[in-house]
Amino acid sequence: MLSKNVVITDEAAGKHVELPVIRGTEGEPTLDIKAVPSTLGYFTYDPGYAATASCTSEITFIDGNKGILRYRGYPIEQLAERSTFVEVAYLLLFGELPIEEQLNQFRDELTYHTMIHERLNHFISGFHYDAHPMAMMAGVVGSLAAFYHNRLDMENPEERVLSAKRMIAKMPTIAAACYRHHMGWPIAYPRNRLRFCERFLDMMFSVPSEQYMVSEVAARALDLLFILHADHEQNASTSTVRLVGSTGANPYACVAAGISALWGPAHGGANEAVLAMLDEIGSVGNVPHFIDRAKDKNDPFRLMGFGHRVYKNYDPRAAIIRQACYEVLDELGKDDPMMDLAMELERIALEDDFFVEKKLYPNVDFYSGIIYKALGIPVSMFTVMFAIARTVGWVSQWIEQSETPTKIGRPRQVYRGPQERKYKALHRRG
Ligand code: CMC
Repeated sequence: MLSKNVVITDEAAGKHVELPVIRGTEGEPTLDIKAVPSTLGYFTYDPGYAATASCTSEITFIDGNKGILRYRGYPIEQLAERSTFVEVAYLLLFGELPIEEQLNQFRDELTYHTMIHERLNHFISGFHYDAHPMAMMAGVVGSLAAFYHNRLDMENPEERVLSAKRMIAKMPTIAAACYRHHMGWPIAYPRNRLRFCERFLDMMFSVPSEQYMVSEVAARALDLLFILHADHEQNASTSTVRLVGSTGANPYACVAAGISALWGPAHGGANEAVLAMLDEIGSVGNVPHFIDRAKDKNDPFRLMGFGHRVYKNYDPRAAIIRQACYEVLDELGKDDPMMDLAMELERIALEDDFFVEKKLYPNVDFYSGIIYKALGIPVSMFTVMFAIARTVGWVSQWIEQSETPTKIGRPRQVYRGPQERKYKALHRRG
């Protein structure tokens, strides 16, 4: 909805432009700057898009100052307490909580699509045994377009939803297959009588020689983490998915690009980096030294799992995971000294002027690794866990974009290279 305009004047040039203000249902008003280049002759400069909205969306709302996160209007705290990952996936994809019949049908559809083509297993076995699973995931998910090319009419809404369901369903199967390849274990096919997270744990940890009983506590903890990671509006990987999608690329290519963006340590790769950092810190006594390093401008070290572009308050997901950490460690009967270390690090950081002034709080990745570790998930698979959950957000955002007239994403630049010069023959250079 457009309301009053804002006038920007270039006094020296004697020009002005009236910019419409776009107001969403919530959040800050946003200036529509499209007319600036044609009327004032300037481009706008915003590296890192810290001041730029790239799209309109009805999916996820964040108020970073108040620490609010809502999916389709529902507070994350309520979904974490009362919903399930599959129900949240339905909500994010279709916009409403399902009635029982819709939920059952959706669950059946996700279950029906869990198998992957046997050739994909051959593809996975072609990787070196110690390949990072995120590298494998990006390659294997991108290759899905080669397996499902007969149903890739992206103008067709039904086929868009079908490819979205396929990816949500197959991602855990691919992730577990990557892990098993690393371990040298035979493929474990999805057992469709199990629920989403139970099935994933079974595919990860069952071996042919022994009966594997999925722990109810572990499945519930995983379900919670998946709910919390499912979407987060226009973060780096989701923006990547939208940017690639704006070219008309197929959804598997878009999600493969999202996986690659997620892998970076400033984004989803932080959960792996947090455990490496806690390991390096080693003991509570060393915390002050690492806090000093994080504050030192000449030291590239940062406290991983701290800070966020949008949250300038406690990340609401971190608050939920912190509480879940106690419960899961308690219920699984595990006592992880890393939890004490993480809490001490958080306590000291939150009292330190540097972190207070810069509003650096623990983010979603700070405590999630401690739960994954307690569930027996290896550290190299942490970001893969994030990718399984975030696939729901990626495909929901991709579908939303596909339903809206979209221009190709094409930012401009401030060119600082050489001005025009003349080509010199090889013998005249130097
Ligand atoms: N430790 C120490 N200093 C920090 C940290 C940190 N973790 N994060 C930000 N700062 C400082 C930074 O040095 C800068 O200081 P100055 O203004 O003096 O130059 C200031 O705070 C602002 O930092 P920034 O890098 O400009 O902020 P940003 O919004 O561009 O980056 C961030 C956000 C998440 C990339 C960053 O806080 C960071 O690198 N955190 C560690 C990695 C991490 O935990 N990432 C997970 C993010 S949440 C999950 C997800 O998105 O996937």
